[in-house]
Amino acid sequence: MYKQPEIIAIDGPAASGKSTLAEKLAEVLGYFYFDTGVMYRAVTYAALEAFQSVDDEDQVSELAEVIEIDVRPASKKDGRKYDVLLTEEDITWGIRSPEVDANVSKVSAYPRVRKAMTSQQRRIGQRGRVVMVGRDIGTVVLPEADLKIYLDASVEERARRRFAEQEERGVKLSFEEILISLKKRDQYDASRAIAPMQPAEDALILFSDNLSAEEILKKVIELVLPEYEK
Ligand code: DC
Repeated sequence: MYKQPEIIAIDGPAASGKSTLAEKLAEVLGYFYFDTGVMYRAVTYAALEAFQSVDDEDQVSELAEVIEIDVRPASKKDGRKYDVLLTEEDITWGIRSPEVDANVSKVSAYPRVRKAMTSQQRRIGQRGRVVMVGRDIGTVVLPEADLKIYLDASVEERARRRFAEQEERGVKLSFEEILISLKKRDQYDASRAIAPMQPAEDALILFSDNLSAEEILKKVIELVLPEYEK
């Protein structure tokens, strides 16, 4: 008999459409949506605030081990999907700045930072009825996930999407700057020694270049809920 997946892992590179897919999928299923990138971004934000740099690995790791990051339902209607809180500070938009983008891969490659974040993520994931998004969810955080999707797209397509998103929010970066930043981040995320970004062996790999967000969602819903009629 068909058993609906209880734990769904969605991995893939920056701006591949993972978060949009996961958020909508979680809504349809009534599951909890958790974007793990938020945690690495929050550590990066906090380190930049505290030390103006993320270069001192021990200092950043110690911070990651004590920091209180919380994700709660959205308290404002400014386009946010949820609130991200650092202790009580609202850092929802702060973690999306170009400075955080430029430093987050470095922070997320620090082993102690990963250890601290991974154990919190596992705890949340193991409760079930969750769609969790990241780079290493299917391989390291929740290798027992019932369904693993690796959502990919060409770097040019991802840069186009990110450019449109940032333009809407008033961030003034050129397409070329975004393209270079994404390439750097891909390279860093895929080549780090611990939990590099890569599809799990049993992941379903989807390329989203020629598919709209709705088409990708439809494909995945057909997989998860064979009986579902949209
Ligand atoms: O998905 P994102 O762009 O918000 O992620 C920010 C960074 O965090 C990304 O460059 C890599 C890192 N990350 C990670 O290493 N492992 C995860 N599970 C999620 C994100």
